[in-house]
Parts: sequence; structure tokens; C-alpha cells
Amino acid sequence: MGLELSDLPTVDAALNAASAALLTLGFIFIRRKNIRAHKACMLSAVATSMLFLVCYLTYHYFHGTTHFTGHGAVRPLYFAILISHTILAAAIVPLVATTLYRALRRRFDLHRRIARWTLPAWLYVSVTGVVVYWMLYHLGR
Ligand code: HEM
Repeated sequence: MGLELSDLPTVDAALNAASAALLTLGFIFIRRKNIRAHKACMLSAVATSMLFLVCYLTYHYFHGTTHFTGHGAVRPLYFAILISHTILAAAIVPLVATTLYRALRRRFDLHRRIARWTLPAWLYVSVTGVVVYWMLYHLGR
């Protein structure tokens, strides 16, 4: 029972959920001034998101796109979520890189300033990633 290509979307959704959990934990830790735990969570969230990107691109390279089959009110809702998810997903790449770079250079004042944009955008992307997966593969099936 190996991992098949058709399992990848589920793996992708799990990785998105893991990123969301790690980002939330990382935020809780820094609010409690636990820098070590904050750093560990955020670096794990970066790793999880990078793994997601590899799985996501692999799947779409071999499989192509999956069309949404829902009708009625869920259709515009699905596309609104998908479009905002996609635009923000592209935007967070340079945001995350800059946030991480500033932290690793120990420019924590600047890190904090950009991180306040990076964190909510990244959380939105990972949570809507799970929502899009759920709507695409499980809604009404
Ligand atoms: C790219 C992933 C990261 C994100 C999204 C992130 C997010 C954040 C956020 C939102 C804050 C502000 C918390 C508040 O409002 O009080 C913060 C503060 C902080 N982060 Fe990160 N962080 C990341 C990576 C790191 C890493 C790798 C370190 C390494 C040491 C780090 C160290 C710190 C420190 C020391 C603060 C406190 C800064 C201050 O209060 O002046 N962060 N981070």
C-alpha cells in the first residue's frame, strides 16, 4: 500500500493544516516571550510549507487541474476563496523570506514589523488551502 498520486491532495491538505497549527503555536510562544519555541515552530512552518509546495507542484505536473463540479451559491464562494488564496499564496513567498531573513540576522525590530503582515496572510493561505481542498474533493460527494 504505497502512496499514490491520487493521495497527494490529501497530503497537501494535511501539510496546510500542519502549517496553520505551527504558525498559531509559534505566535502563542512569542506572546509568552519564549523565543526558542517560537523559532522552532516558525522554522517548522517554513519546512512544512516548502514540502507542501513540492508535493503540490508534483501533483499538478502529472495530474493537471481539477475542476470544481459544485453548482449554485457555492460556486462563486469557491472561486472567491480560490482566487484570494492564490493571490496571497504568491504574495507570502517574498514576505516569508524577508521575515525569516530579518529574524536570522537578529533584526528583531524590523522582523516584528513585517511579521505582523506575514503571519495573518500566511495563516489565511494555509487555512483556505484546507477549505479549498475540502470543497474540491469532499463537498457533495
Ligand atoms: C518566518 C517565520 C516567522 C514568523 C511568521 C514570525 C512571526 C512573528 C511575529 C508575528 C512576531 C510579533 C509578535 C507580537 O506581535 O508580539 C514575532 C516576533 C519575534 N520573532 Fe518571529 N517569526 C518568524 C520567525 C522567527 C525566527 C526564525 C526567529 C529566530 C530567532 C524569530 C524571533 C522573534 C523574536 C525574538 C521576536 C520578538 C521581537 C520583538 O518583540 O521585538 N522569529 N515573530
